[in-house]
Amino acid sequence: MAAGPNPKEAVCVTGANGFIGSWLVRTLLENGYTNIHASIYPGSDPTHLFSLPGANSPSVNLQIYEADILDSSAVAKAVDGCQGVFHVASPCSLEDPKDPDKELVRPAVQGTLNVLEAARAAKVRRVVITSSISAIVPNPNWNPETNGAFDETSWTDLEYCKSRQKWYPVSKTMAEKTAWEFAEKHGMDVVAINPATCLGPLLQPNLNASCAVLLQLLQGSKGTQEYHWLGAVHVKDVAKAQILLLESPAASGRYLCTNGIYQFGNFAETVSQLFPQYPVHRFTGETQPGLVSCKDAAKRLIELGLIFTPVEEAVRETVESLQAKGFLKQQQQPSES
Ligand SMILES: NC(=O)c1ccc[n+]([C@@H]2O[C@H](COP(=O)([O-])OP(=O)(O)OC[C@H]3O[C@@H](n4cnc5c(N)ncnc54)[C@H](OP(=O)(O)O)[C@@H]3O)[C@@H](O)[C@H]2O)c1
Repeated sequence: MAAGPNPKEAVCVTGANGFIGSWLVRTLLENGYTNIHASIYPGSDPTHLFSLPGANSPSVNLQIYEADILDSSAVAKAVDGCQGVFHVASPCSLEDPKDPDKELVRPAVQGTLNVLEAARAAKVRRVVITSSISAIVPNPNWNPETNGAFDETSWTDLEYCKSRQKWYPVSKTMAEKTAWEFAEKHGMDVVAINPATCLGPLLQPNLNASCAVLLQLLQGSKGTQEYHWLGAVHVKDVAKAQILLLESPAASGRYLCTNGIYQFGNFAETVSQLFPQYPVHRFTGETQPGLVSCKDAAKRLIELGLIFTPVEEAVRETVESLQAKGFLKQQQQPSES
């Protein structure tokens, strides 16, 4: 990891008690950050953050700020006094929204604008935006023969998603585009990370959407993740990458964060081999038609020094965590004979 500013800057994390947010707070503490503004949805539970290693150390000031991301003055209070901001909060669910604009698009887009506006007012040095592969795919205009594997130059096709009622990619794409427009207009230092499906132990009490994808697969789901898949990444690698992007002076633009690009069907095969006791569906044919596989798809992060955790380790740790938290029943391993 690149050497950071010394002493470490005060930082704000939005969505700090969610799956990625909690891992980011944990990793910031491990990396010597002592002044952390943890911004959470009003009334939601941040207790687990205070069980993280180092959170209660006398030198650490982990402060909770209750802020709906749509409440600009509450967001401004959370950001004030920070030099770095990690914008992580955004609605993330496997359920189809009843009112896509209200439930997904507005919180993603206006929330991003509120964070950037607050960061500008507070003269924040850099904002790291948590975008997604859902701002990169689906993109039917990407020609695998001429363009090869997906990279940061691809943008999700909004009209294609809208016509198929795929509102999560719409929300993430519009939010990231809004961030770039705002950054350019105001000359702000913004960097975006675009993680694939994040797996790993759940630090938070509730089940998050990406770990639910693995849970459903273990329970026999035949869903292909056609529109929402490029690959998987350990959530601890995402947190490390977010900090790397705050600390690396030369970081700029978009950073795809995945341990490879491959079909969801191949992922299911890996899960099935690791956990044969669960009824994991065997997919035939391509789950992501035409997707070009690529091992080192996150070239830009690899060049910055990030080393990715093997996907098998991420799957194993997620399954153990889902079992320990009672989301997944233990099953006997079939006998070898
Ligand atoms: N997990 C993945 O595979 C993945 C991949 C790529 C990108 N991402 C992005 O990473 C970020 C975090 O996702 P996650 O996986 O950690 O999901 P998560 O656990 O559901 O975290 C999302 C967080 O955003 C907060 N939030 C949502 N609406 C809010 C609002 N109006 N005001 C304040 N906070 C709000 C949620 O708070 P409450 O739950 O308390 O309401 C939660 O803490 C999101 O931006 C997501 O799009 C995730």
